[in-house]
Amino acid sequence: MRFYVPTDIYVEKDCVKRHAKELLAVGRRALIVTGHSSAKANGSLNDVTEVLKAGEIPFQVFNEVEENPSTDTVRKATQAAREFKADYVIGIGGGSAIDAAKAVALLLVNPDVDADDLHKMPGHPLDHAPVVAVPTTCGTGSEATPVSIITNHKINLKKSIPHVIFPALALVDGKYLASAKKQLIVNTAVDALAHMVESILNVKSNLFNRMCPEYGLRLWGECKGALLSEKAVDENLYEKLMFTSTIAGMSIAQTSTAVPHGMSYDLTLHQGVPHGPAVGYFLAAYVEVCAKFVPGDVEKILSLLGLQNISEFAAMIRNLIGTCTTTREKREQFAKAMKVNRSKLDLVPGNISAEDIDYIYEKSLIVG
Ligand SMILES: [Fe+2]
Repeated sequence: MRFYVPTDIYVEKDCVKRHAKELLAVGRRALIVTGHSSAKANGSLNDVTEVLKAGEIPFQVFNEVEENPSTDTVRKATQAAREFKADYVIGIGGGSAIDAAKAVALLLVNPDVDADDLHKMPGHPLDHAPVVAVPTTCGTGSEATPVSIITNHKINLKKSIPHVIFPALALVDGKYLASAKKQLIVNTAVDALAHMVESILNVKSNLFNRMCPEYGLRLWGECKGALLSEKAVDENLYEKLMFTSTIAGMSIAQTSTAVPHGMSYDLTLHQGVPHGPAVGYFLAAYVEVCAKFVPGDVEKILSLLGLQNISEFAAMIRNLIGTCTTTREKREQFAKAMKVNRSKLDLVPGNISAEDIDYIYEKSLIVG
């Protein structure tokens, strides 16, 4: 058994300012990779740039990362990093910004690799420039994983790239959730929930690496009332939600995500469904199928979340993210592709059949 997360992770209020020394020690010239506006609105961009200015580290901001970052965006950001002679990359935002930062860090030191070739398996492990991750949503966990999910629109592919890129440093501060809309907090928290559930219902789950999802699910269960309530999330819960998301990231760093994530990518790519709900729609039916193979694990997940049975689990998810409608043709097309997605199917802790896959799609997506 092995447990591996080589990222220096700090979780606390005013984390960026408190760990200015660590942030300044990562490199000499920084490219900040972020989205259009949220890092400005929640104060994270200002926190980082203040520290860099005070430490006399030159930096440039690339703020064009879209949801589901594309190979074209990654290429453009890498070009900016090269022109600026950056030697490290700071990703500020949700999974999109941090994942893009990782891909830029890889391309920066591999000038022979084009962004459109990021999904190709290299003949040997590729090096990357150091990455700092400052998450501002409570779902991605990317600050604690080696994964970078990038979309190549030319071949209609949304997938993780086959490179290991753990951030050198992660600075996690719950206060950045203060300006987030409630539904964004809910959507990203559902993603974190899926990371932990998929990490346990996974052939790579073991006694050692379960310490993360089992602890994280208990914390998530303590937040579920606030997530389900109509009221805004109390600020006292921000740090717990962020912390849980980081733990969920550490969970999938050991096992990788499983079938619900594999199913979600088509829904995002072809219907524009945001990542958290796209995963969440498949979660209850996946748990139901896995209950045939590992009933004890499913019971454990439900009890950690404070739920009686799978119906309660399914109702909770529905209350959080609603339902998803698609066409019969699309649903069949998605199921057909999933049936040959061995990289995810081989992670199921049992012999999942074609009928099981059809069942998950029928239970999860309404035809209308
Ligand atoms: Fe995810």
